[in-house]
Amino acid sequence: MQKKELALFLFFPLHSLFFFIIVLVAKITTVEISLDSKTNVFFPNSEITGKIYLNTIEAETIQKVNVKIIGRAYVFFLVRRYRSSLQYESEHYYINANECLWKFNETNQSLNGEYWFPFKFVIPSNAPANVSEEFGEIQYFIKADIEFYGKKFGGYKKYNEFQYYGFSVCTSQTENP
Ligand SMILES: *[C@@H]1O[C@H](CO)[C@@H](O)[C@H](O)[C@H]1NC(C)=O
Ligand SMILES: *[C@@H]1O[C@H](CO)[C@@H](O)[C@H](O)[C@H]1NC(C)=O
Ligand SMILES: *[C@@H]1O[C@H](CO)[C@@H](O)[C@H](O)[C@H]1NC(C)=O
Repeated sequence: MQKKELALFLFFPLHSLFFFIIVLVAKITTVEISLDSKTNVFFPNSEITGKIYLNTIEAETIQKVNVKIIGRAYVFFLVRRYRSSLQYESEHYYINANECLWKFNETNQSLNGEYWFPFKFVIPSNAPANVSEEFGEIQYFIKADIEFYGKKFGGYKKYNEFQYYGFSVCTSQTENP
């Protein structure tokens, strides 16, 4: 075999195998998050509502549909000393709530097709505005967590598919003219 042929021979089956796995793993369940508000900007003490969109043909493997809201401050920096440097890291949650929107049970297992699961959370009254700086950030996001139990890579396993959707929190209500 020539070098080129050998390369093709080695590459092609691997390539198609990866393609096959990607199609198998990624294409049979679609998860999307959408918010009802078109602006994506929320004030403390206000409601945030939206939907988790699920389109699947592997319903028998879905165990749970969860939605989370996370508001997190994270600070990280290094202070250089003569021979070493000190590391500062801190994390604080303004909100970290979870809601189960659907759960598998004997009488509730037909979930093939398209579904929209509505959710609702309240932004806490002490929530600061989101920022992103060199040494830290305050971020808010909705996280969809689909929990599966099924055959994957040759054995039965629990696995999850996550989707994230970021939004802004604004604390000054007088900013708009
Ligand atoms: C049962 O399934 C239906 C949709 O098929 C859904 O609307 C409902 O919330 C589910 N119930 C529970 C307790 O998860
Ligand atoms: C299963 O879900 C149905 C529909 O939401 C509910 O009415 C029923 O109590 C649940 N059964 C069990 C065993 O949890
Ligand atoms: C706040 O978060 C949103 C959504 O992630 C982002 O688009 C926006 O730029 C953030 N604002 C600041 C000031 O970091």
